[in-house]
Amino acid sequence: MRRKLVAGNWKMNGNLAANSALLYELVAAIGHAAPCDIAVCVPAPYLALCQQQLTNTAIAWGGQDLSAHEAGAYTGEVSATMLTDFRSHYVVVGHSERRAMHGENNALVAQKTVRALRAGLVPIVCVGETLSEREAGRTMQVVGDQLNAVLALLEPADLTRIVVAYEPVWAIGTGKTATPDMAQEVHAGLRQLLAAQDALAAAGICILYGGSMKPDNARELMAMADIDGGLIGGAALKSADFLAIIAASSNH
Ligand code: 13P
Repeated sequence: MRRKLVAGNWKMNGNLAANSALLYELVAAIGHAAPCDIAVCVPAPYLALCQQQLTNTAIAWGGQDLSAHEAGAYTGEVSATMLTDFRSHYVVVGHSERRAMHGENNALVAQKTVRALRAGLVPIVCVGETLSEREAGRTMQVVGDQLNAVLALLEPADLTRIVVAYEPVWAIGTGKTATPDMAQEVHAGLRQLLAAQDALAAAGICILYGGSMKPDNARELMAMADIDGGLIGGAALKSADFLAIIAASSNH
């Protein structure tokens, strides 16, 4: 059985004092033993804080994006090795906010995924359809194209080292969640695409759901066969909510 992963995506929130307090509360509650894998994906300036406060705890950390380039004249960008310098384990790649607001297309997301893997990071590859794409019946086509663009660049061994996150764009930050059945249908479709590459690896790949996952809906979402955890935005900013979602990951 796949171990669940609950990952917080803090997005561009908080400040030094608040983020440090949040990490402190999480460590105090979780310590070294956790019912699932746990991670926080933080703005790059707070990676050192994570290293300071989370080393030797059950909580891993990571970035929210990385450059497709190795190094050089790319003002404002953060490289894969800068993330690993601070012992990041994960990096979110291809989040819909970056696709929509920073023009990231499937090809760039695929390059970033490879860059992350080559640096030893675990990429959390995000896919998801907009409301109009869903209403046009194109959900599987859209998320399939997004995932296949990444798979096309991977070496066979990479497949065991990626996490996939299904985040319907219309559910992010809106309070609208995909129903467990709706999400499960897409997750199963994504796993089928992964299985077309390598059935054994596909069975072990963690596929997260993201989009208004909260303490009150997390349990039923994570009870679905192909939902292996959550990528949590707003609810990851309050320790009580994030901890409740972590608690909801057990007993499946
Ligand atoms: P919300 O949980 O705030 O809807 O955000 C989800 C998300 O985008 C996580 O990456």
